[in-house]
Amino acid sequence: MREPEPLQQVDRTYVRYKGKKLSYFAGCDYFRLAWHPQVQRAAIDGLKKYGLSVSASRLTTGNHKVFVEVEKALTKFFDVPAALLVSNGYNTNAIVAQALRENVFHVLIDEKAHVSLHDAARQFGCPVIPFAHRNPEDVKRKLPGKTWKKLIRNPSNHMVLLTDGMFAHDGVIAPLDQYIKVLPKNAVVLVDDAHAAGVLGRTGKGTLEQTGVARTRIIQTITLSKAFGAYGGAILCERALREKMVQKSPMFAGSTPAPLPLVNAAIAGIGILGRDKSLRRRLCQNVQFVKSALAPHHPTIVDSPAPIVTLVLASSEQAAATCKRLIAHNVFPSFIQYPGGPPNGYFRFVISSEHTRDQLFDLVCALCEGES
Ligand SMILES: Cc1ncc(COP(=O)(O)O)c(C=O)c1O
Repeated sequence: MREPEPLQQVDRTYVRYKGKKLSYFAGCDYFRLAWHPQVQRAAIDGLKKYGLSVSASRLTTGNHKVFVEVEKALTKFFDVPAALLVSNGYNTNAIVAQALRENVFHVLIDEKAHVSLHDAARQFGCPVIPFAHRNPEDVKRKLPGKTWKKLIRNPSNHMVLLTDGMFAHDGVIAPLDQYIKVLPKNAVVLVDDAHAAGVLGRTGKGTLEQTGVARTRIIQTITLSKAFGAYGGAILCERALREKMVQKSPMFAGSTPAPLPLVNAAIAGIGILGRDKSLRRRLCQNVQFVKSALAPHHPTIVDSPAPIVTLVLASSEQAAATCKRLIAHNVFPSFIQYPGGPPNGYFRFVISSEHTRDQLFDLVCALCEGES
């Protein structure tokens, strides 16, 4: 994979690219809270009040009241018994794995799961079996065999299923409700909900709310760097698991938590998303506008409430022509390569609540021109 050129941000929905100001449909700041005056003010206040970093593990001298406050805000927003703030979203999954590994004997993972889940899977130290992408039937086929019966006698033994909630590559959503139906009773589902937290579900609680499943048996990991506009990671779970992670995860014990001003900013972001219902409503309307306009021209675009529109083109010539059309319509050509995505790259457009109708219209025109 090549390292892309640095981008020059102009404001929350525009970038400068090759001397031109272009609409920016990328990044995962779904509500542009990273640009919200209250979130930015909280970052500045946090810096002045607390300094930049605790420069220590939370288990030594680095615990701070702002971490406790963000955990309180998260438990309220997601209606969950406990939350644990960690350094970033990537580490959340490995921290869960390190806490659970003594009692986990079988791990299933969606073949297209995020790299952080694949990394975390290795931490369990037991067989890791991939299952076909979003396929509950394949999950059923890959459940543990005879050994299960012996192990299940000990109620603290588990198998774990690992999946993204909303997949970043094309915005498809994991069928959590169907997984819960086919899994044995003491199986646990670890959902990396980095993209869905704050975005999916009636109140933004993510994939669990979207698919109508209860929290029992589900561990939800999130990032504060996408919908909430700041930085840091968190695990949403039962109190007992939170305690286990604190006690047993070397990654939690041996790393510095997220920077204080950014955690303070995250608290503001969580508050805004909790209060201002118009943000999610606008995001939903923008997504519907773009997806319904593009659907007749690009039937492969995933029909889901996810604010992600992906186009995989057959040839590099087609991709180059699309790049040209996008720039002609003042849209930044977000052609990306990402682990797990199509190896030759693809266009991924991320819709935000803050794009104007004119910007959305430009995107639609650029992607429909020259198509049947
Ligand atoms: C599905 C998923 N999980 C985890 C992460 C990592 O989150 P963070 O950037 O907070 O480390 C990302 C980041 O893009 C992601 O897409």
